Amino acid sequence: METIMVINGPNLNRLGKREPDIYGRETLSDLHERLIKFAEARGYKADCRQSNHEGDIIDWIHEAEGRSSGVILNPGAFTHYSYAIRDAIVSISVPVIEVHLSNVHARESFRHTSVTAPVTKGQIVGLGVIGYELAMLALLEGEKK
Ligand code: DQA
Repeated sequence: METIMVINGPNLNRLGKREPDIYGRETLSDLHERLIKFAEARGYKADCRQSNHEGDIIDWIHEAEGRSSGVILNPGAFTHYSYAIRDAIVSISVPVIEVHLSNVHARESFRHTSVTAPVTKGQIVGLGVIGYELAMLALLEGEKK
């Protein structure tokens, strides 16, 4: 079965408890369950991971090459300054879609910049957990071509 890798970055293990007015009340395991079912219903496997460590995220992006059809990536705060994650995205040929639960453009100015988005297929922000499902649909649509 083809796999979509879902990578959530730092502090996203705190979903449900962390600033629920901004990030919602669903936990990370609720999100993972939802995406696993969403992918299964479309004949795909969602390989969902989370880490608070930049190196893990870089290793997983490398690992996606040759084993996943696409990557859905929420790099958390690394979005705003990790050139190493940006370089990892550039180093693979698998499409990557960046997702943010919150509308980063309506928040503090440091969140308005994404160093990673310019090297992704696209970016979805501000739609909560639905954003991950939309990203998955876009990746699966790309697969058909
Ligand atoms: C986030 C937005 C980032 O600015 C923040 O650091 C996060 C979560 C989001 O999903 O809205 O950790 O990526």
